[in-house]
Amino acid sequence: MPSMITSIFTHFLLLFLVHLFSNEFISLQASEFGTYSTNFTTCWEIERNALLKFKEGLKDPSGRLSSWVGNYCCTWSGVGCNKQTGHVTKLDLRMPINFASLQGTISPSLLDLKYLNYLDLSWNNFEQTPIPNFIGSFTKLEFLDLSFASFSGLVPPHLGNLSNLRYLDLSSKFSDQDTLVSDLNWILGLSSLKFLGIDMANLSFASTNWLQAINMLPSLTKLHLYSCRLHDIPTSLPIVNISSIQVIDLSSNHFNSPLPGWLFNLSSLVELDLSSNGFSGQIASYLENLNNMRDLNLYYNDLSGPLPISIGNLSSLEILSLSQNHLSGKIPETIGKLKKLICLDLSFNSWGGVVSRIHFLHLNNMKEFLLSSVEEKSLVFDVGYDWIPPFSLYVIFITNCQMNPKFPIWLQTQKELEIVSLAEVGISGYVPDWFWKLSPQIILLSLRNNKLRGELPRSLKFQPYSSVDLSFNLFEGTVPQLPSVLTLSLKHNSLSGPILANFVDAMPHLQFMDLSENHFNGTIPSSINKLENLRFLLLEKNELSGKIPSMNRLNKLGTLDLSNNNLFGKIPSSLCSQSPLVYLRLNGNNLYGKLSSLRNCTKLRMLSLANNQFHGGIPRWIGETLSYLSILQLRGNMFRGKIPKSLCSLPLLHAMDLGQNNFSGSIPPCLGNLSSLCHLKNETFVSAADVLATNDFAAVVVPITYTDAAASTAAVNVVAGSATSPIADAAAIVGTTDVVAYEFTTFLFEIIMEFNVKGQTLEFVHIIELVNLIDLSNNNLEGEIPDEIMKLSALDTLNLSGNQLTGNIPEKIADLRVLETLDLSVNHFSGSIPISISSMTLLSHLNLSYNDLSGPIPSANQFQTFNDPSIYEGNPKLCGAPLPINCSTHKHDTPEGNTGQDRDESWSERSWFYIGTAFGFVVGFCVVCGTLVIKRSWRQAYFRFVEETKDRIYVFMVVKAARLQRKLKGNERS
Ligand SMILES: *[C@@H]1O[C@H](CO)[C@@H](O)[C@H](O)[C@H]1NC(C)=O
Ligand SMILES: *[C@@H]1O[C@H](CO)[C@@H](O)[C@H](O)[C@H]1NC(C)=O
Ligand SMILES: *[C@@H]1O[C@H](CO)[C@@H](O)[C@H](O)[C@H]1NC(C)=O
Repeated sequence: MPSMITSIFTHFLLLFLVHLFSNEFISLQASEFGTYSTNFTTCWEIERNALLKFKEGLKDPSGRLSSWVGNYCCTWSGVGCNKQTGHVTKLDLRMPINFASLQGTISPSLLDLKYLNYLDLSWNNFEQTPIPNFIGSFTKLEFLDLSFASFSGLVPPHLGNLSNLRYLDLSSKFSDQDTLVSDLNWILGLSSLKFLGIDMANLSFASTNWLQAINMLPSLTKLHLYSCRLHDIPTSLPIVNISSIQVIDLSSNHFNSPLPGWLFNLSSLVELDLSSNGFSGQIASYLENLNNMRDLNLYYNDLSGPLPISIGNLSSLEILSLSQNHLSGKIPETIGKLKKLICLDLSFNSWGGVVSRIHFLHLNNMKEFLLSSVEEKSLVFDVGYDWIPPFSLYVIFITNCQMNPKFPIWLQTQKELEIVSLAEVGISGYVPDWFWKLSPQIILLSLRNNKLRGELPRSLKFQPYSSVDLSFNLFEGTVPQLPSVLTLSLKHNSLSGPILANFVDAMPHLQFMDLSENHFNGTIPSSINKLENLRFLLLEKNELSGKIPSMNRLNKLGTLDLSNNNLFGKIPSSLCSQSPLVYLRLNGNNLYGKLSSLRNCTKLRMLSLANNQFHGGIPRWIGETLSYLSILQLRGNMFRGKIPKSLCSLPLLHAMDLGQNNFSGSIPPCLGNLSSLCHLKNETFVSAADVLATNDFAAVVVPITYTDAAASTAAVNVVAGSATSPIADAAAIVGTTDVVAYEFTTFLFEIIMEFNVKGQTLEFVHIIELVNLIDLSNNNLEGEIPDEIMKLSALDTLNLSGNQLTGNIPEKIADLRVLETLDLSVNHFSGSIPISISSMTLLSHLNLSYNDLSGPIPSANQFQTFNDPSIYEGNPKLCGAPLPINCSTHKHDTPEGNTGQDRDESWSERSWFYIGTAFGFVVGFCVVCGTLVIKRSWRQAYFRFVEETKDRIYVFMVVKAARLQRKLKGNERS
């Protein structure tokens, strides 16, 4: 679902850009609707008064109606009159760019414009009021455009009286407030309608009636019902009235049936968009009737099976997008017959077989080619080394295929490339010089995850605001200067030497920089402070030394990862003086000092300072001012003193790792109040989004998707009224900041945290939100485990080992019912092992070694899985399997008086056995298998989701934006 939202978001933004650049589009359309003259020296008084009254009801901040004075109303801006009669026939108040929208109410005085046949109020702001009923009384109206004007509520059925209407657009923005609701029954009266657009209205009440209503419009040529929450579409339609229809857009609805065959019999169809639905089943070979079909968009559905060979008969096809389905088998060679094809998008399916030259035989016009398979290496792209392709591409996207390991020399013939992604295609060796020479025209380059080697050129100039991803290769040498780049990932290569000041100086636009996992050494240049647009700085796992330079000018920096280097000194106290840091990892360095320099980092959500030499106590203000903190990792330092109670009041904290320090005193009982650990979270994508999404955190992407960043900022500014961070504003338009921001974030970088769970250090990538952990190991804590801890029912890891803790292991420990790791080793716990543990069906890692525990080791249920004796060793008074000490011999050593207790114990063991068994076989089946299975599949799904989303959205947006830009350039020229 989040992808859907993003697609809506993208759709809207692109739409807005179209609007932004091309008011001409609509005026072209408008010219169909008669000729008007503004060259009048008079005006009908009743109409003039009507217009003036209408003006009175409106707020007009930028004075668009300032010409509405005097007598000659036909000369007023936006007003058109009939040449012969002088009556007002046209009112065109579409909001132009660089003006503020008109606001307020539409006066019924307009009804005096009896001859009005053209009314356009689009892109203004009528503040969520309903569309006035009286609009239905303009019986002469032929053109009505109320789109994106913030109307909401029920569409008045009165519009059904407009029997002369030929053009009707009621599309709205994606926002709950702006939603128009309709059942479409009123539409039956609009028998002259040629264009109908109701994008993003809520038509969910119409069930299947919507189609019956539409089918009564014999003149209809264009139908736009994008994202209307439609869920039913009949798979057959006995009588088709809309036989002259040319354009159908039903994308982003909730259909989940097989593809409706009747749609593919509409021989007049030129454009069909069924993308972003749940259409399933195969694509049958009814494609034969579609001789006029130019654009066929079926991407992001659940279509499966092979692509029919008859696809080659769609001789007019220019755009074919089948991306993001489950299509499998060989890609038919007949595709090579589609002479007019411009865009062929076959990415993210389950293709097999080989793609060869024959597939491209006649594709002389192709400009965009996208191909990938989500099956591991199931698809081979083999066009031969010396191929001379018939086309010249703007976009090439081939990922996760097997290609010839030599760098594809045929790319040398492609002189117009703008977007090049050859990620995970198994190419190796050196990148030829001629390829780098393409860079000035490139906006997106990804060669991620190949085996490319050699030094990068010293300087590479890409298009302004471009994105370069060369991560996971074997590149050597130093980083090139990339002056125009907005995002740069060189992660996981063999780059080395210092990060030079002039490298930094050369990249003023940089917002995202990932140089992690290389061999960079020397200091972090202080000039980094000049990268004022930087939002993400990732330098982890290098050999950087020296101090952390001042970053007090980086007022957009949200993510800073300097972990696992050799950095030294204190954290600069200015670190958060400007930057809205959300994610800070400094672990694995030689940093020291107290925490006071982080006092102003009030937006922090994740903080790791592990494995440094920090000292002092945990100050109270951490609990009081860092109220967004959800992950706190201070392991492996020299912190001392008590664990402050103020930590207990952090409402979002769900991972607290304080291990390997010198903390003393007792475990604060108030830890039981950590609210994030008291409730099992609803594991949804959105919960992860909650953690990750802040406006600042993610503001990178919008500009990259538009080659002209100024234009996109302008777009966003105009819509949102202000622009602190483009995506926040852009996302505010669609009202779903979190999800959108989250998606944009996750595909840019991976969030990594390391924790000790299940006895080993594990890296959690992406799913850190699922880590619920308290680790207080290897400190000097004393006293008993407070009962309150047992309230933390969401806890999955509890590590208290290596302290001076005493008392019994509480029977209630089993209340921690999703606990997977329990480590109480190396303490002074005494008494018997609580049998209740046998019911902890998720517990997979238990360590009780080196305590003073006594008595028999329980053997029921979950204990049968703990057969490693080392987890009990160092407790001389314990007996029974898996220890080699037999309890009956052991008993002789214990005093006589204990037999009663033994009986109790064996009773209680048995009762726990029964309870545990019932639990184990009834609940346990669900809990163990269910949770693990669900959790595992969820995790896998999640990974897949994130991985695929990355490329999908990215490519989707960049390709669309580039296409749009070309279109706009084309318009300018013509
Ligand atoms: C307007 O009308 C006057 C005479 O009625 C004519 O001279 C003039 O050229 C017209 N202007 C335009 C722009 O049509
Ligand atoms: C950086 O590493 C290179 C070898 O790769 C070495 O020659 C140089 O002295 C190192 N510089 C620093 C500052 O450690
Ligand atoms: C924190 O912010 C306050 C005011 O906002 C400022 O006076 C103080 O110096 C800052 N502290 C640090 C450590 O940056």
